[in-house]
Amino acid sequence: MRTSSSPGHSPPDSPPDNGPASSPDGPLQDKLQQLYSARAARYDLELAPFATLRDEAIAALQLQPGRTVLDLGCGTGLSLPALRQAVGSRGRVIGVELCPAMLVRAQQRVAEAGWRNVELQLASAEQTVLKRTADAALFFFTHDLLQQASALPALLARALKPGARVVAVGLCWAPPWQPWSNAFVLGAALYSVASLDGLAQPWRHLAAALRVSQLERRCLDAAYLLQGCR
Ligand SMILES: C[S@@+](CC[C@H](N)C(=O)[O-])C[C@H]1O[C@@H](n2cnc3c(N)ncnc32)[C@H](O)[C@@H]1O
Repeated sequence: MRTSSSPGHSPPDSPPDNGPASSPDGPLQDKLQQLYSARAARYDLELAPFATLRDEAIAALQLQPGRTVLDLGCGTGLSLPALRQAVGSRGRVIGVELCPAMLVRAQQRVAEAGWRNVELQLASAEQTVLKRTADAALFFFTHDLLQQASALPALLARALKPGARVVAVGLCWAPPWQPWSNAFVLGAALYSVASLDGLAQPWRHLAAALRVSQLERRCLDAAYLLQGCR
């Protein structure tokens, strides 16, 4: 489903030569659909405490007017306003989301703002087909997507220009001497991710496919912020 699609002014890139990678398996997709269909209506409120971290992540993308940026697992589109503002009217924002109930809220956001250069796709990020490669990609609280070890390198190669900036933010286990942070991570993760696997280093598969420039902790070590380049 494309909700908004107008040609950007940046020159189209040559078509990506890698085909789409495999998507999350059926049971995982079902679990994610269930999880996020149930949360869609209250999602924006629940994420409000992370607004500053979101701003920091988007600033770390170092976007310029006219650039193309991907918001992978874009959810209800909470990052879209700042991404759109950073790339301007000549740039392009592409949001990819697999849960229709979440995407419909992103669609409303785009329609209300009247952005003609924000495109939304209902797809698993691993399978999305893009008309152009992007200058940057954001993974904001997309734990389950980042655990797709075999699909991530193909996704990055297919979707991003060489040197493209990538920023990821998410929950992670804090060191054992921070039990309150870990209690928060456990509660939040049980509520919001399909599997607790990989929470010690949720960034590891992404980091393996990038040149990582910075990996920092946030939120009393309950979250990480990774910056790197393809
Ligand atoms: C915690 S929400 C984050 C939403 C958004 N990035 C934000 O900043 O608010 C995670 C989102 O990723 C989506 N998601 C999970 N795996 C995905 C995948 N493989 N492809 C596309 N979307 C995915 C979920 O449906 C959910 O909407």
